[in-house]
Amino acid sequence: MEKIVVKAPGKLFIAGEYAVLEKGQQAIVIAVDRFITCEIQANNENILSLPDLRLENKTWEIENGKVYFQNDDQKLAFVKNALEVFYQYLSENNQTVHPISILVSSELDDRSGKKYGLGSSAAVVVAVVSALFQFYFKKLDKPIIFKLSAIAHYKTQGNGSCADIAASTFGGWIAYSSFRPEWLLTKLAKERSLTDLLRSSWPYLSVKNLTPPTSLHLSVGWTKSAVSTAPMVKKIQQLKQTNKQAYEQFLGKSTKAVDAFIQSCELNNIQLAMASLTENREALQELAQLANTEIESVPLKQLIAISNKYGTGKTSGAGGGDCGIALVKNAHDVNLLYKEWQEVNIEPLMLSINSTGVHVIDTK
Ligand code: PMV
Ligand code: MG
Repeated sequence: MEKIVVKAPGKLFIAGEYAVLEKGQQAIVIAVDRFITCEIQANNENILSLPDLRLENKTWEIENGKVYFQNDDQKLAFVKNALEVFYQYLSENNQTVHPISILVSSELDDRSGKKYGLGSSAAVVVAVVSALFQFYFKKLDKPIIFKLSAIAHYKTQGNGSCADIAASTFGGWIAYSSFRPEWLLTKLAKERSLTDLLRSSWPYLSVKNLTPPTSLHLSVGWTKSAVSTAPMVKKIQQLKQTNKQAYEQFLGKSTKAVDAFIQSCELNNIQLAMASLTENREALQELAQLANTEIESVPLKQLIAISNKYGTGKTSGAGGGDCGIALVKNAHDVNLLYKEWQEVNIEPLMLSINSTGVHVIDTK
């Protein structure tokens, strides 16, 4: 029996964090060459294994469009919602559901099980949805896969820009602006046809590929401490309520920095790219101060101070932990940067850009 194998890359934020949660604001994200792999095969019962999450041989049943795992576990929520959304799409397209086995494995967590912050839950959703799509339709329709994954992810997490889903689906360097979540939730509640929703255009959603300046060297450092994004976002959202003016000012600064980065790509101007990240860092620093929260944790501050000796450094994503990034001026400085990072317990991650996004592996 044919086995489908699909790989979905992890992501990193480059710029525009927090601001991207607001209408029409853009973020810059990249896909990196570490993957979630999903294998699907026809089977005599529905069975799922995620050995990296220590979840093995979990069976499930489908009843009236709902997926029921025999031993439910919070960690299964993303896959469960991915399955439910996909099965709704299948039934609308008059396809018969077959029992399958699904195996999901991850390179997005370190061996001790700590997450790097490379967007593993988003990549799991993209990998599972894509493998199912390939299994049933013998192709990957990426705009549809993005939307199915965004719905499944949003249903599970209840917040987030889905920039990570875009990076994992489409790959490369991306300028992303999000659909409006309240719009999507209303549509999901009201509209009968998921297929119509998937085919319609989603207000404010925009995914554009970028070509970064040719001499750009991106380095990534891991703080070895994990953070969850949701409480960080909550804290920042409070500022929006208590000090709207300061919040709007942050949005203005972030837009300016992200626009400058996009322009640096168009002009192939590395100086402008570096200056734009410095500007975005300052905007985020001010935001954290106003919201009385810590985006730059002590290790991230150290990572950035060292990066600034060789170029420019910045937090990546929500901050508080996970990874930071650096753009260095001279490629031969990269090893010096890594050495100094290691001296303060920052682990350089040897990541390259994945330009394809989610893809099928030929197993023949
Ligand atoms: O730390 P991460 O990689 O989860 O990034 C969060 C980025 C935010 O803009 C703060 C939230 C989001 O969903 O875009
Ligand atoms: Mg993070």
